[in-house]
This record gives sequence, structure tokens and C-alpha cells, in this order.
Amino acid sequence: MSRIFNFSAGPCTLPYSALEEAHAEFLDYQGKGMSLIEMSHRSGEYDAVHMEAMDLIKRLYGLPDNYKVMFLGGGATMQFSMVPMNLMRADQSCDMTLTGAWAKKAAADAAKVGNVNVVFDGKADNFMSLPALSDLKVSPDAAYFHMTSNETIGGVQWSDFPDTGDVPLVCDMSSDFVSRKVPVEKFGLIYAGAQKNAGPAGTAIVIIREDLLERSSDALTAYLSYKTHAPKDSMYNTPPVFPIYMLNKTLSWLEKEGGLDGATRKANERADLIYGAMIKDAGFYRCPVSEDCRSNMNIVFRLPSEELEKVFVAEALNNDMSGLKGHRSVGGCRASVYNSMPLEGAQPLADFMGEFARKNG
Ligand SMILES: Cc1ncc(COP(=O)(O)O)c(C=O)c1O
Repeated sequence: MSRIFNFSAGPCTLPYSALEEAHAEFLDYQGKGMSLIEMSHRSGEYDAVHMEAMDLIKRLYGLPDNYKVMFLGGGATMQFSMVPMNLMRADQSCDMTLTGAWAKKAAADAAKVGNVNVVFDGKADNFMSLPALSDLKVSPDAAYFHMTSNETIGGVQWSDFPDTGDVPLVCDMSSDFVSRKVPVEKFGLIYAGAQKNAGPAGTAIVIIREDLLERSSDALTAYLSYKTHAPKDSMYNTPPVFPIYMLNKTLSWLEKEGGLDGATRKANERADLIYGAMIKDAGFYRCPVSEDCRSNMNIVFRLPSEELEKVFVAEALNNDMSGLKGHRSVGGCRASVYNSMPLEGAQPLADFMGEFARKNG
């Protein structure tokens, strides 16, 4: 068996030790003669895994007691619906920052529930920069203020978050979840699809400040209401047991590896290597993103021509590095370097970039 370095944007590489553990216990979980995913979700075995996964998120972020964690189906996309449906009435408005493809999708769904007030629109420079926090004006009567902490396709990442006062700050952290410490007290709600830093696809993680549960209207159907899931620790119905099992293993690994501080240190080391390779061959590689907001999770870059980009992606694959093609909507190349990508994967990519530029420049 040989494993290659997978730079895909998600689903993406997971910690090898987590995969190994799941492999070892898959057919017979703790001597029960069946796998965990065949057991009742009400069993003691599953309950321990589920609650530990929630505790890991609480411990990693140092969540205050008034925050609840939920595991919900439907990915982060479902949260584009659930956030406005639960937090905003039809006669209300929310503030949205349009920083790229994902923020635009969140805004399009919110606009079907209430009014969307755009406080920043990155369209003018093709979503390649972010404003200063001081330029963001929070509407005092907004139902919430929405941000996307890291744009997975465009490669822009906020380094800080605004104080939004009494207006709840809501953030889609899908592509930099558990990759750095954030001032959690600033947020009313955080959501993320698991399939980048936290585990496989199939569950979204939602962190909500408890007072916001009051907002969920009784007119909502059961699954769509946060008020259904939060008090029952996401056991109202059958939760996505396999993704949660893997989330538990991935986050346990992360905690042992130094938690969020360790994740940030490694993310910066990987990013320095890859952006460094671009700077070394600046005549050949070009990063379209403004220097002050370049993502350390999704590193986008262009080569002198689309032809060369195709050759780059193909040759990288021949050298055991996959998933380097940019998103189909923007083209170019993208290296997604989430928590589980070791430095031993970023280094060969940086070396390969140097060699490729010398051969083709
Ligand atoms: C920032 C961001 N938000 C939302 C989504 C949508 O997530 P899902 O596919 O889990 O619905 C993605 C998917 O890549 C994403 O990167």
C-alpha cells in the first residue's frame, strides 16, 4: 500500500493514525462482534463516542458553558438555510460580508428568508481582498452579522473578527475550523462542514450561544429548528454516526498534537513553505490574493498559462501529489493544506514547484 499527499479542498486528507484506528476496530468494535456503525445510536458505546466528540470541540476552543455544540446533517449548505430560518424573521434584515463564492451562497439563501444588507462586496476586485475591520458597519437592528472566515475557493482568510455588540456574529468556518484559536465569546453562532479539518463529509458542526435558541420559531419543522437539537445533544434523531466517530478520532489526534496552537504553528509552517516557493519563483508563479489576507488553508496560485497549469497538476500527480487543480469556477491551482497535511507533504510540493519553474520558466 502506498499513500500519496492529497491536497484536495474537501473531502480531504485525514490523520493517518485516525484512519488506522478505524481500520483496526472496524469489523469488531471493542469486542462487541460488530462495527460501531452497525450499533444502535442509543448504545453506551456510541453515546461515549458522540459525547466525547462534543467535549473535544468544547475543550479545543475553550467554549464557555453557555455555548452548545450540535452535529447536524446536510453539510454547511444546510446551515445556509437553518441560520436565517432560526435567527431572522421575514420582516428583519441580516448583515452579510460577500467575500467569495461561499459567502454569496449563504447570502442567496438568507435572502429567501428575510432581507440581506450587504456590508462588504468583494466583487470589484474579484474577491481577492478583504476590508479593514474598522470599515465594517454593523446595522444595530440586524438579526445577525454573517462572515465566512476562510473562502475555500478564492483563498482569502480573515485574520480577525469584528465586535458586533448586541448583533450576533455568525460565521461559516467550514474551511478553517479547529485550525486556530478564535475569540469564541465574540460569536453567536459558528458552523462548519466537517470534511476539511475535522473529519469526513456527512456532518456539520454548529456551535450556538444558548440565548439564541429562543429565536427559533415554533412554526419550524422539527429537524430545521436548533431548539430541537441543542437540548438533546443532537440525539433527537439518528445522528450521522460514522462522520461523528471519525470526527472524534481526528479531534483526539489534534488535541494530542498540541490543540489549536499546534494546528496554527503547523499551518503557518506549511503556508510559509508554499508561499515561499511562489516568492522564490515570482516571475513564474503568481498569487492573485492580496498579501494581507492570504489563506493558510487554501493556497491559490497561477502559472504563466493554463496549458502549464494543466501540465503542473498532471506532473504533480505523477510525483504522488494529488488534488492541486483550482476550483472549476476560477481555474488555476490550489493547494489545500489542512491540519492533517504533514510538513513532509508541503515540503515536496514546495520543492516540486521550484523544479517545475526551472524546467518550464
Ligand atoms: C467555506 C465553505 N462553506 C460552505 C461549504 C459547503 O459545505 P457542504 O458541502 O458541507 O455543504 C463549503 C464546501 O466546501 C465551504 O468551503
